[in-house]
Amino acid sequence: MTLYSRVRPLAFKLPAETAHDLGKRTLRAAQSTRPTRAALSTAYQYDHPALEVDLFDTTFPNPVGIAAGFDKNAEVTHALEALGFGFVEIGTVTPYSQDGNDRPRLFRLREDEAMVNRMGFNGQGMEAVKARLEEDGTPGFPLGVNIGKMNSSTEREAIEDYRRVFDRLSPFADYVVVNVSCPNTPDEFDEASPEHLREIFETIDAENDLDVPILVKIGPDEPEESILDLVDIVQEFDVDGIVATNTSTAREGLASAKREEWGGLSGKPVEGRSTAVIRTIADHTDGDLPIIGVGGVDSAASAYRKIRAGASLVQLYTGFVYQGPSTAKRINRGLVRLLERDGFTSIEEAVGAELE
Ligand SMILES: Cc1cc2nc3c(=O)[nH]c(=O)nc-3n(C[C@H](O)[C@H](O)[C@H](O)COP(=O)(O)O)c2cc1C
Repeated sequence: MTLYSRVRPLAFKLPAETAHDLGKRTLRAAQSTRPTRAALSTAYQYDHPALEVDLFDTTFPNPVGIAAGFDKNAEVTHALEALGFGFVEIGTVTPYSQDGNDRPRLFRLREDEAMVNRMGFNGQGMEAVKARLEEDGTPGFPLGVNIGKMNSSTEREAIEDYRRVFDRLSPFADYVVVNVSCPNTPDEFDEASPEHLREIFETIDAENDLDVPILVKIGPDEPEESILDLVDIVQEFDVDGIVATNTSTAREGLASAKREEWGGLSGKPVEGRSTAVIRTIADHTDGDLPIIGVGGVDSAASAYRKIRAGASLVQLYTGFVYQGPSTAKRINRGLVRLLERDGFTSIEEAVGAELE
């Protein structure tokens, strides 16, 4: 029995967001001293040369990252590194602080190993995040920065929002993600329309003196044609990759009563759909466009399914909530076994293996 399996029933008695805040406070305290950080690293890090991934001009120590939304304000990046993750994507960061939607806005669907959230881009804003990255220092593993617009912004203002957050935070980033796929912000226009995307990419490209890799995060609910249209625009602008996928508005096959809550569904029920989106993109681009796969990863097997479908890296959020601090170590250990079983010497060899 792990410590987390004893703590989890207590944490799950609390409202989901309260438990999340408490968990983050614990991680923030743990990362604040060298001995506690070192103790976490000893307990939870798992290194193996086969796990290293060279991508976006940097080296990821392993392919298992923490998805956007967990550490919106860059408060626990060092603790997440100590817990053995291979990278973190902070954000979504908006230009100014905003409260997001009213609570409750985060729900556990325990029977489904899922969550529904309608956080609505709550966050401290880019200046607070910048100050924290300067004060704490960037972590020793790759840092992604996921950027978004203010909820109140018009289509025109949104372009300027992306430009400003990019300008402020891209110097800290190993990659930047343009998030146009949040299903629970009150948009008056289509964030993922080709015209809007073109304008966003043109604008931030012009700001990108440091040549920071730029990715776009897409949702799982679009039909295949829309996904392929978007991939074509991404390629037209030499965008460096796609994060697939965000949360879903679908609710099929769920057992939990909380399925009635509106917002974005994450966790086990979205795994298959998100992997299918990855496969569609990898197929369409002959594996030439890097994909970060996210949605329902909670085990080595589910991470490996995304890698074999074409993801160079994977991320998770909901799996971490259900599986606890040893999640990255367990997945990475299991991945090494799966690579050995299939005769691969590295993750990179397994990327897109099922497409060949
Ligand atoms: C509470 C919560 C907040 C999230 N916030 C963001 C966000 O701010 N930006 C974003 O791009 N994705 C956000 N996501 C989506 C995750 O990054 C991820 O794409 C999705 O949850 C699927 O992965 P999972 O099944 O491993 O949770 C959020 C997810 C959850 C559960």
